[in-house]
Amino acid sequence: MALWGGRFSETGRAELTEFSESISFDQRLYRHDILGSKAHVTMLAAQNIIPQSTADAIKAKLDEIKDMIEQGGMEFKFELEDIHMHIESTLIDALGDEGARLHSARSRNDQVALDIRLYLRDAIDELIAGIREFQKALVDRAAAEPRAIMPGFTHLQHAQVVLFAHHLLAYVEMLDRDAERLSDCRKRINVMPLGSGALAGSTLPIDRQKVCDLLNFDRVTRNSMDAVADRDFAIETAAALAMFGMHVSRLSEDIILWSSQEFGFIELADAFCTGSSLMPQKKNPDVAELSRGKTARLYGNVTALLTLCKGLPLTYNRDLQEDKIPLFDSLDTAKAILNVYPPMIATMSINADRMRAMASDPALMATDVAEKLVELGVPFRTAHHRVGSLVKYCREHNKQLDEVTLEEMQITIPEATAEFLELFDPEISVAKREIVGGTGYGQVAGQLKFWSEKLK
Ligand code: ARG
Repeated sequence: MALWGGRFSETGRAELTEFSESISFDQRLYRHDILGSKAHVTMLAAQNIIPQSTADAIKAKLDEIKDMIEQGGMEFKFELEDIHMHIESTLIDALGDEGARLHSARSRNDQVALDIRLYLRDAIDELIAGIREFQKALVDRAAAEPRAIMPGFTHLQHAQVVLFAHHLLAYVEMLDRDAERLSDCRKRINVMPLGSGALAGSTLPIDRQKVCDLLNFDRVTRNSMDAVADRDFAIETAAALAMFGMHVSRLSEDIILWSSQEFGFIELADAFCTGSSLMPQKKNPDVAELSRGKTARLYGNVTALLTLCKGLPLTYNRDLQEDKIPLFDSLDTAKAILNVYPPMIATMSINADRMRAMASDPALMATDVAEKLVELGVPFRTAHHRVGSLVKYCREHNKQLDEVTLEEMQITIPEATAEFLELFDPEISVAKREIVGGTGYGQVAGQLKFWSEKLK
């Protein structure tokens, strides 16, 4: 039964019904739809808009409908368009006129806005918990090898030595901002739109604050037209997840490089890799690659949502039904990544010897020599030039930087003393970086302590 029957003499054609349905993707809102309806009828009865006995009957039946859906007992039909109508029509079939009182002072426009907000609130809480697990896995792996030294890169070229733990903790910071962004979105999601009606509120004496309190929202929306028309809260959530994807994708790129034969810094557990159907020796980092790949969809969803909303006149337009597909896809994609990534990190093995071997190139310490000169009063640009000349000398004489004698070094760096010859030790280079935020042993140990306490 279509719930808006009165105005229509002809029922929809099958193609149209199929074209306009949203039940295939909005059925996941059932629990939140029922939660919202129960709060709504509680308020309607308290305001004497419907009898208390009717409210009680509706609430009991809504609970039964929830169980029925959970047990797979509801038949979803395109003719009933969406989850709101499936639930309401099941209610009316069971309760008759009593059930037909539920939708007083409500439109599907404010109802769907409410449902998405309720759903997103829970989804965000779950995603934040997942991000915390992800951070924990990274902190644990960093803590397992707190003194492992590796070459740090800029332009994917060897730059300066860093602690492996410092590198992992960089991602812990990024993920922390992702979690913060989501909890910031949650503040704007947590505003109660019901009572906005189709667009202009209601003539019935409803108590919106009561519904707000029952559903634990921070406040009610101030403008009924805004409340049914805008989806910015959904778009910013998708944008926050796109940013999360960008971070995971960069980590993936590092993981993929590190697990290659060329780097050999880590090895992923077999369970997180696949082989090749052709080449027997292959072990591919699929989880990292797929996370990088799925990030494309996280970006696409933001674009889809922004484009969906950009040309809409106020207020509700049917276009908005399409918001759920990209939004849910972003939530699902982020959740899927969070299900597999932390255990992959937790089980990867770290080859500290290989990292250390790659970090032994004395050229990684060239900046340390220039900074030593600055300590002796040489202007940095001059120091940079002198060390550059030393590098050139070494290339011309086919030597590594740590193979020159003091006399040779003094050709380009007159200030050099015996101490300079010791600067090419990666451990010394790391130890000297005890600046706040630096890669010094003490600094990184402090960061590890900070994070393991924060994430407890
Ligand atoms: N299925 C619709 C959606 O998801 C529900 C709201 C429909 N409102 C309307 N006036 N047709 O957006």
